[in-house]
Amino acid sequence: MKITTAMHGGNYNELAKQHGLTKEMILDFSANINPLGVPASLKQTITANLDKLVEYPEPDYLALRARIASFHQLDLANVIPGNGATELIFGIAKVTKAQKVLLLAPTFAEYERAFFDAEIIYAELTKETHFAAAETVLEMIKRETDLEAVCLCNPNNPTGQLISQQEMIQIAELCEERNIYLIIDEAFMDFLEGNETISMINYLGSFPHLAIIRAFTKFFAIPGLRLGYLLTKNDLLAEALLQMREPWSINTFADMAGQVLLDDTDYITQTYNWISAERDFLYQELSKFSELTVYRPSVNYIFFHLETPLDLRKELLLKGIFIRSCANYRGLTENYYRVAVKARCDNTKLIRALEVIFSGN
Ligand SMILES: Cc1ncc(COP(=O)(O)O)c(C=O)c1O
Repeated sequence: MKITTAMHGGNYNELAKQHGLTKEMILDFSANINPLGVPASLKQTITANLDKLVEYPEPDYLALRARIASFHQLDLANVIPGNGATELIFGIAKVTKAQKVLLLAPTFAEYERAFFDAEIIYAELTKETHFAAAETVLEMIKRETDLEAVCLCNPNNPTGQLISQQEMIQIAELCEERNIYLIIDEAFMDFLEGNETISMINYLGSFPHLAIIRAFTKFFAIPGLRLGYLLTKNDLLAEALLQMREPWSINTFADMAGQVLLDDTDYITQTYNWISAERDFLYQELSKFSELTVYRPSVNYIFFHLETPLDLRKELLLKGIFIRSCANYRGLTENYYRVAVKARCDNTKLIRALEVIFSGN
C-alpha cells in the first residue's frame, strides 16, 4: 500500500479532543524537537525585521547559502536550501527521477511519498539485529539490479540507530560503482556532538552520487518556520535542484534564521549540555522497566518495544502525556513507540506516569 497522506508525530489535537483534553493540557513527547525552544537570537532577529515582510525574499538565497557553505567548509554552489528538509526530499525525487529506490523499513514516511511513482524495495530492519541497517543495505545493493537511488536516514527515524562512517563509506563506494544516487538524510545528525566522525559531509568530494539532507527544524526548534538544506558536490544535481525549485519557497524569516542560528554558539552549547545529560538519563530510566525493551538512542529520541499487552499511548494520554505510536511505520507493529528526550522535569513526569501504569494503579 502506498502512503498518500503524511502521518507524523505531533498531530495529537484530534486524539486529545476525543479524550476531552485540550492540546495545552498535554505534554508532547511525540515530536522530536529541541526543548530549549526557539533561540532568543532568532526571536530578536524576527522582531527587529518585521517590516521586511513587505519585500520578497532574495530569490537565490545567496547569503543563506554562503553561511551554510562556510559552516561546512563547502562552496556556495554545493548548498541547496529548502523549505524544511521535506522540500528537498521531494526535490531530489523529482530531479533524480529514480525508478527503483531502496528505502529502510521502518523509516521517515515522506521518502515513500516523494518517490511515489518509483518501484520501492525495502531493507527490512529487524529486532533480531537491533534495527541495524548497514549489512542488509549492502546486501540489497549488491543483489538488486536497476537500483537508481538509495535513501538512508542516519540516524534512522524512528529507531535512532546509526550507520557508522566506515559502513557508509562502503555503501557509498558500492553506489558510486553502480551509478546509484545515495541520499543520506542527516536531519538529526547535529544533535550528535562531534558528528564529523559519523556524517558523510567530509566525503562529498569522493562521491559524486552522494547528496546529504540536513534540517534546521529539529535542532533549532523551528518546525513552524521550516528550513533545511541539501549538500552535494554533484554540479549537475545541484543545478537541476536549483532550476526546478519554486521561487521564494523559503520565507524571509527562515532565510534570516539560517544566517543567525549557526552563529548562536550559546544555544548550540546549551543543547549539547542538555542532550548529554538527558538522553542517557531517560534511556537509563526507561531501561529499568521490565515491560520495555529500549534501544540505545543516538540523538534526541528513544525507541522502545512494549512487552506487555497494553495501549500505552492511550494510557499515557489519559495522564496528559502523548507519545508516538510507531504502529503506522512500515515494518513495525503496534507495540513499538518513540519518545522525544525533553527537559528533566518532563522526562521525570513520563517515568512517574509509566511507574503508575505498570504497577497497575
Ligand atoms: C528523518 C527525517 N528527515 C526529515 C524530516 C523533516 O524535516 P523538516 O521538518 O525539516 O522538513 C523529518 C521529520 O520528522 C525526519 O524525521
